[in-house]
Amino acid sequence: MGSFFSFRKKSKETIELDLNSIPKHIAIIMDGNGRWAKEKKLPRTFGHKAGVETIRDIVKECSRIGVKYLTLYAFSTENWKRPSEEVNTLMNLLVEYLKKEVNELNKENVVVNNIGDTSKLPKICQLELNNAFELTKNNSGLVLNLALNYGGRNEIIYSIKEIAQKIKEGKLDVEDIEESTINQHLYTANMPDPDIIIRTAGEQRLSNFLLWQCAYSEFWYTDVKWPDFKKQDLQKAIYDYQNRDRRYGGIK
Ligand code: FPP
Repeated sequence: MGSFFSFRKKSKETIELDLNSIPKHIAIIMDGNGRWAKEKKLPRTFGHKAGVETIRDIVKECSRIGVKYLTLYAFSTENWKRPSEEVNTLMNLLVEYLKKEVNELNKENVVVNNIGDTSKLPKICQLELNNAFELTKNNSGLVLNLALNYGGRNEIIYSIKEIAQKIKEGKLDVEDIEESTINQHLYTANMPDPDIIIRTAGEQRLSNFLLWQCAYSEFWYTDVKWPDFKKQDLQKAIYDYQNRDRRYGGIK
């Protein structure tokens, strides 16, 4: 395989992805499941079910093109406010997805990981997650990072508490706190910051996702709702990313 990958845009114009500059870390706010279902006069939960199919395809595609980290915003700290029926459906879908997919993910060399406070999830979710972590922990391919009961502010509080505890125990000096100290105490410790954050379904906000880590992420929005998001949409996002000029506050 060469270092470029061609695909066709809607206009029939062929564009090429540079396989040497695939983003290392892609983070996705998978939005629009409810609206997708509503449009089809279906209950919202059908939108989430359809959303799981998209997860399957996007994980495959990220693996194939050599993305190293894929972080999916699956359940936020604010999503508990939804009706309990919807929360239950989401938890059941997580369990079903892990049960059904874990062997395939393992075959694809994917490492299943999570960010967020999973101790508040139903025990069955914790059990399936632990099975998946255990089975895939020695793989060396894509890290599939499921953001579950995740909130960016919550994560920063968590990191502050960990750091404060170390100071209290005399293991860390206040004067030695720097950016890397915070990084190392976030759920994403040892992972690179997201290169690109994708949000589907038209909203242009971050919704408490990766607040610390997004300092220099590129943002990409699409009106396409998550259940309709295809690998071609992902390729468009990556193509766009590859044609941006990342200066990190400097000049070129
Ligand atoms: C946003 O759509 C989506 C979510 C809050 C949950 C995303 C979850 C899945 C795709 C499936 C379950 C996850 C796994 C990992 C198996 P929304 O409901 O906010 O849509 P709306 O804005 O149109 O109402």
